[in-house]
Amino acid sequence: GRLVELLKRAPKAELHLHIEGTLEPEMMLALARRHGVALPYADVEAVRAAYAFTSLQSFLDLYYAGAGVLRDAQDFHDLAWAYFQRAAADGVVHAECFVDPQTHTARGIPMAVLFEGLVAAQRRAQTELGLSVQWILCVLRHLSEDEGLAMLEAALPYREHFIGLGLDSSERDHPPRQFVRVFERARALGLHVVAHAGEEGPPDYIWQALDLLQVQRIDHGVQALHDPALMQRLARERVPLTVCPLSNVKLCVYPDLTRHPLGRLLDAGLCVSVHSDDPAYFGGYVGDNLVQTVAALGLSARQAWRLLANGFEAAFIDEPTRARYL
Ligand code: HPA
Ligand code: ZN
Repeated sequence: GRLVELLKRAPKAELHLHIEGTLEPEMMLALARRHGVALPYADVEAVRAAYAFTSLQSFLDLYYAGAGVLRDAQDFHDLAWAYFQRAAADGVVHAECFVDPQTHTARGIPMAVLFEGLVAAQRRAQTELGLSVQWILCVLRHLSEDEGLAMLEAALPYREHFIGLGLDSSERDHPPRQFVRVFERARALGLHVVAHAGEEGPPDYIWQALDLLQVQRIDHGVQALHDPALMQRLARERVPLTVCPLSNVKLCVYPDLTRHPLGRLLDAGLCVSVHSDDPAYFGGYVGDNLVQTVAALGLSARQAWRLLANGFEAAFIDEPTRARYL
């Protein structure tokens, strides 16, 4: 109906998007052919058939394998540019995108190659689409803190090209407290700081991200619902949660969208907004996430508007820019 049309067209801030998670099967196969990389899939249907995940880890295994087709600056440009065109068509006007440098440097891809491709696409997005893009580098939490520190130091020659540090990958058994020093270093450098917490992991990991890493936003954070004291703190301090409903269903955090707690988080006064995480793997970009979740939970137009406004409240943008969108 009318609400769906309004939501599709409404200006959006995308704050939880992994650029490697925008690799559509068509591009994965094309890049594999371009570089002579062997993939265990015969065609696009076979790739899509493999996307039957049972947990975060079952997804990450395929996601890191898929990223192996990205080799040169042109590949990183093509990946990001394809995403930016889709995002602009979806109403996204501002995107804060995650990239996982360690996934690529571990394969021998120099940091310079990554930035060359991504920054070229970012410039095109601004000039050709009017889409503002900012990069957030994520530390892979299944690796050591020293490796995360080395990644951050290796990225410093490109400091002007990123605004923040994040924490992603396998959450279980990799608590935020293991990364205190790298987040301290990031804050000293004047970077924004965010962390994935409470996707599959316990509410305690959200407390650690806030108190030990001193993050400004929590990515996912849905497990906060099981801790009333944490809910009160998140509401009182308006700590943003960047929630990704289709991701949560695909990774079996909830059995279907009607069981997603987005409405309850919103009703509790939290600054929750809706994003897409790894849209090529999870079956929908930000517009799909919004429209499908609003429909499944029967959210009102006012609640839907609040979700969109929260995205701009949570964005790392200057106040005049924020005021234009709120
Ligand atoms: N969680 C953790 N790590 C990730 C995710 C996620 O949802 N997507 C890409 N890396
Ligand atoms: Zn994520």
